[in-house]
Parts: sequence; structure tokens; C-alpha cells
Amino acid sequence: MIKLIKSVRAMKKLSSGLRKKGCSIGFVPTMGYLHDGHISLVNEARKQNDAVVVSIFVNPSQFGPKEDLKKYPRNMKRDLALLSKAGVDIVFCPSTKEMYPEGYSTYIEVKGLSDKLCGASRPGHFKGVATVVAKLFNIVQPDTAYFGEKDYQQQVILRRMTADLNMDVKIVSMPTVREKSGLAMSSRNSYLSGDERSRAQVIGRSLKFAKTLINSGVKSSVKIKAAMSQLMNTSKLKIDYISICDPGTLDEKKVIKRKTLIAVAAYIGKTRLIDNIVIK
Ligand code: PAJ
Repeated sequence: MIKLIKSVRAMKKLSSGLRKKGCSIGFVPTMGYLHDGHISLVNEARKQNDAVVVSIFVNPSQFGPKEDLKKYPRNMKRDLALLSKAGVDIVFCPSTKEMYPEGYSTYIEVKGLSDKLCGASRPGHFKGVATVVAKLFNIVQPDTAYFGEKDYQQQVILRRMTADLNMDVKIVSMPTVREKSGLAMSSRNSYLSGDERSRAQVIGRSLKFAKTLINSGVKSSVKIKAAMSQLMNTSKLKIDYISICDPGTLDEKKVIKRKTLIAVAAYIGKTRLIDNIVIK
């Protein structure tokens, strides 16, 4: 039977007990409204560990004042059924008050990396992410934590944080799970109307197109970005950014050599979606 834990104290006690028994703990942090992308992380955690913990917590500190915190989709009943089916042992779903009680004042900032790509248009976002993930690591005490490459910058930042703060958590990242149409799965896809959903497919297509261009010898970032913008404009997307950068430092590249991350953020109506591809 899956265990549903709401208090930090109970979660810490369970994790300490598991560790004392020598059980390895695999951890998948989420904000819920689960899809096959989340489940792919859970499946990997299940394969590699004795116990699997999933957290569901819509973390207010990573949302800007004008962002979608209030309307972020939630469906705990469905999430629990999916996690139960996937063989998860423990679901940790604390309240906001449990995670950020009155007087809460400590935040983690991963400088530099957090200001680029999504960080430029979502100031403070990665500070919130790093803070909540550090807290969750302290509470769940995992051996290994699983993150998706869909949020590429997030896992780069969290790797930096664990290294810098000497945390004993191994970070594993897993490939982006897509719908048949090529659209990267995301809880935010539920905001899209039918028309928007089909227009959103152009994001995945533009990344594929970039890969084809690079493989055919185009090496200039300016040219690749122009081709991608042109393609995305056909579906009336509002581009937030297209980044062609080093996958480790996230520094922009003018010329494409070696391993390269191509990352996109775009608005379809009011919904902001992100996606990326790594060119080897
Ligand atoms: P959330 O968006 O719920 O995502 C939870 C995890 O699932 C993240 O590691 C994310 O990269 C991964 N994921 C999302 N869509 C995916 C897809 N299509 N394929 C593969 N993996 C996918 O990311 C967060 O929550 C939060 O920022 C969190 C880390 C939980 C901190 O609050």
C-alpha cells in the first residue's frame, strides 16, 4: 500500500528508518498533475532503488507574482492512482505552511546559471526551485533524485547546487517524453485549447529542423535561430527566447561545435511552454 505523508516530521522519520535498514531511496520531486514524463522518472527510480518517494508540492516560491500559481492544475486523486500503479512506496505532499512556516527566511541562489534562459524571463524562479529541492533533499534524504531533461536548465542548476553544497544526492536526468505529435509532455499543456495544442507542435518541429540544419552543415547560431523563428511564426507563437548554448555552462554559442543545447520558450496564447534538444 502506498503511504501518503503530509508532515515533514513523519517523512524524516520514515526516511531515517529506511536508511538505517540499508534501503536505498530514489526520489522524484514533482508539482503533481502527473503525466508519462513524470512516470518515466518514477519507473527509473523504481528500477534502481529499494524504496521510491515522490513529492507533490506546488511550490509558491518558484512562481512570479504574475504567474500561474493559483490556476496550476491539481488532481491528487488521479496522481495517487498513477503512483500506486507505478509501484511507488511513499508520496510526500506537504502543505505550503508545512514547507514555509511563518518566519521562513532561508533561500538558495545558484548564481550565474540561474540568470540565463528561463531565469532571464522568470526572475527568482530558480531561487525558488533550488530552495525547495534542497529542503526536500533534507527531508527525504534520498540516495538518488531523478529529473527530466525537458527542464534542462533546472537539472544543470540542481547538479551545481548539490556539488557546491556537498550534498550526498546523486542526480539522474532522463530524456524528454513526448506525445506522438512531438509536443513535450507538460502539466501546463492542460491549459491549451485544441487549436493551441496543434499550434504548439511547431516547437518540437523547430528543434528537429534545427538538428537537420546542423547535420547538413549549417553552423551559425544566427542562421539556425532565424530559421527556427520563421518556422514558429507560421503558428503564431510568441517566442520568449531561443538559446543555442553550451549544455554545461549555458553560455551562448555563436558557432555550433561539439555538444550543444538548443532551448526554446514560447507563448501559445497565454501559456508559456519550454522544450529543448541536445545536439551531440
Ligand atoms: P514538474 O514540472 O512537476 O516536473 C517534475 C519533474 O518531471 C522534473 O524533473 C521535470 O523535468 C520532469 N518532467 C516534466 N515533463 C517531462 C517530460 N515531458 N519528460 C521527462 N521529464 C519531464 O520541475 C518541477 O516540477 C519543479 O520545478 C520541482 C523540481 C518539483 C521543484 O518544485
